[in-house]
Amino acid sequence: MSEENFSLLPVPDNKKDRFALLKEKFVHKFGEDPAFFARAPGRVNLIGEHIDYCGYSVLPMAIEQDILMAVSPDDSGKLTFVNVDSQYEEFSGDVMQILITKDAPLWYKYMLCGVLGVKENFCSLVVNGFKAVVSGTIPPSAGLSSSSALVCCAAMAMLRSNSWPMSKEKLCEVCAKSEHYIGTEGGGMDQAISLTASAGKAKHIEFNPLRTTDVQLPQDVEFVVSNSLAEMNKAATPYFNIRVVECRIAAQILAKSQPNLKWREVKRLGDVQSQLGLSLDAILEVVSSTLHKEPYSKAEVCKILEISPEELAETSLSANTRDVESFMLYQRAQHVYSEAKRVQAFKAVCEAQPANALAQLGQLMDESHASCRDLYECSHPDLDMLVEICKKNGAQGSRMTGAGWGGCAVSIVKSDSVGKLLAGVRDQYYAVSPSKAGKVDAALFASAPAGGAAYYEV
Ligand code: GLA
Repeated sequence: MSEENFSLLPVPDNKKDRFALLKEKFVHKFGEDPAFFARAPGRVNLIGEHIDYCGYSVLPMAIEQDILMAVSPDDSGKLTFVNVDSQYEEFSGDVMQILITKDAPLWYKYMLCGVLGVKENFCSLVVNGFKAVVSGTIPPSAGLSSSSALVCCAAMAMLRSNSWPMSKEKLCEVCAKSEHYIGTEGGGMDQAISLTASAGKAKHIEFNPLRTTDVQLPQDVEFVVSNSLAEMNKAATPYFNIRVVECRIAAQILAKSQPNLKWREVKRLGDVQSQLGLSLDAILEVVSSTLHKEPYSKAEVCKILEISPEELAETSLSANTRDVESFMLYQRAQHVYSEAKRVQAFKAVCEAQPANALAQLGQLMDESHASCRDLYECSHPDLDMLVEICKKNGAQGSRMTGAGWGGCAVSIVKSDSVGKLLAGVRDQYYAVSPSKAGKVDAALFASAPAGGAAYYEV
């Protein structure tokens, strides 16, 4: 990836009304014009779920829905964040005294993550804060990365408010790391796609070091996103971090079984494969011959690793997973390595574009969903039902997307069948439930790959 920076763009014609309205709200609130706009989009992950934090590449695309901020630097060092949606409380604080507690994942804490992450990279005695009026169109807790878009957009606001230079590549890493301050140990996918997406293209994103490559999807194909409306905020429950920890322990036990590996130096399933120099098929065989399918108790894990529970907490657990007593290791490792293979296969099909590309991509997405549901256990009954309904209505493939335990499905469909799919899902998933029917317009949409984060002129 090039050491590219963000440029300041003119507001596109089709977005002028929204930007003008936000500017008006800024002027009304602060009695001055904003200095610039910052915008970061949400994303839908096409394939490669729960593998970025294991060191494996993923294949998402940005969506049109975004976080947009009207911003003005504040040389008194104050931070003032106002959300146009009044259900989100206003925040004000001091840029030199940022404290992000890991209790309730309130909206402005994501902004503080971005601000703090950027600030930590510059040793400056005088630091500007900023005023921001924030408008968001990404449904929250839906697996479309509203939280990372907030982190990225606030980080961009902080950079520009201080005229600090930073490459996009560096900012992706800073934002991925600083989002951990909220307590969730995510990977780097969401921040990387939000900051680097290009319109019309999906991205293959590799980690350590971060590399992004455009992926041209087949011409006559579209993606439909449908929100199950089962909400899941990954920072409000331990589910996400439990999976991260299960993968870490699986990696460490696999490493312990190998004479040449030092398990204490292993944190990710990807490390085990690369240190052994094996193919994904071969490492899947190692998983089958080393790990058992029954859950592992904490005592068993400690016995295998030859450590005490206190040491296990040090080497492998996180704050909100200290009390977890049982770990599914075989299933999580099988998911991660097989999903990593599916990402490679998906990318290869997009590159070769064979006549049956759509069928092949659909099958990979179906397999991904089955693996998330059965091996990684991060789906939700409503989401499974929604995926089935999408398939019955013409989707070639359909899968949960994002962290899971609720949130959205993404379906691949032939362009000329989009209308049929939208109508079928509307009737069979949303219209049958009064609580869902009223939300269908924001919950169900077709999406082309959208552009990435940018600054805009006022
Ligand atoms: C969240 C995390 C990502 C990724 C996905 C699951 O969105 O932030 O890093 O792990 O879940 O694929």
